[in-house]
Amino acid sequence: MMVLILVSVLVLGIHYKRKGSKGVPLDDSNNVIERFTRFERILHFIRAFTFIILTISGLVFMFIEANKPSGLIHSIIGIIFFIVSIATLVWFKSYTFKPYDKLWLRHLGGYLSKESASLPAGKYNAGQKVFFWMTILFTLILTGTGKFLMGNTVNETEPSGMLLLIHGCAAALSIISIVGHIYLSLWANKGTWRVLKSGKVSEKWVQSHHPNWEIDKVKSKAPKGHI
Ligand code: HEM
Repeated sequence: MMVLILVSVLVLGIHYKRKGSKGVPLDDSNNVIERFTRFERILHFIRAFTFIILTISGLVFMFIEANKPSGLIHSIIGIIFFIVSIATLVWFKSYTFKPYDKLWLRHLGGYLSKESASLPAGKYNAGQKVFFWMTILFTLILTGTGKFLMGNTVNETEPSGMLLLIHGCAAALSIISIVGHIYLSLWANKGTWRVLKSGKVSEKWVQSHHPNWEIDKVKSKAPKGHI
């Protein structure tokens, strides 16, 4: 598990060195467009914080000491992570795929080239949409298998090897995808972290990273058949 995490960090480091950052960076000027409400930012913060605690307590439980306190922390925080993750489904419409997402996926968002090509993207680009649905799928798998594994710990019975394997693989894939998510939001797209502080972005940033977002907003407000 630790080797996988280290390898993914190394791969992302090499990617950054060779391809650099993408699009217009987000700075502190002219941020007038609301991207995330305070509620969305609080839910994201809880998701990020609980994920870190789950990773640490899970690794301690599996590799260092399978004791009741770390198992208890893991299961209580797991319930909070599950509830908050499922709550984000209220914004599912922003994560539904549109025909223009195919072009973004075909070019893998331009992340394999050095130039910042302008590819179609709504509020979220196709990669962010895939990431969102992956987090929901992994949350369901981890919570489902985790519930049975915790039952084994409480009753002090031997857990099923298959359950352990599924839980471990889903956890490893989740950690790797979050490492990728952190890399994309902190390094590959410079200054994007600011959106988590204020919730706001600039017109220039939207044009560069999410050119179809404004058009989608107008279309969704227009009466059917109007546009
Ligand atoms: C732990 C540190 C984390 C950092 C620094 C971080 C950073 C960010 C940033 C900067 C954005 C805004 C991107 C944009 O507006 O385009 C974002 C969005 C998002 N984050 Fe995180 N995040 C973290 C953890 C997580 C975790 C643990 C999850 C879910 C399990 C998550 C799920 C999301 C989702 C679904 C979005 C919206 C779509 C996207 O940008 O991919 N984040 N995050």
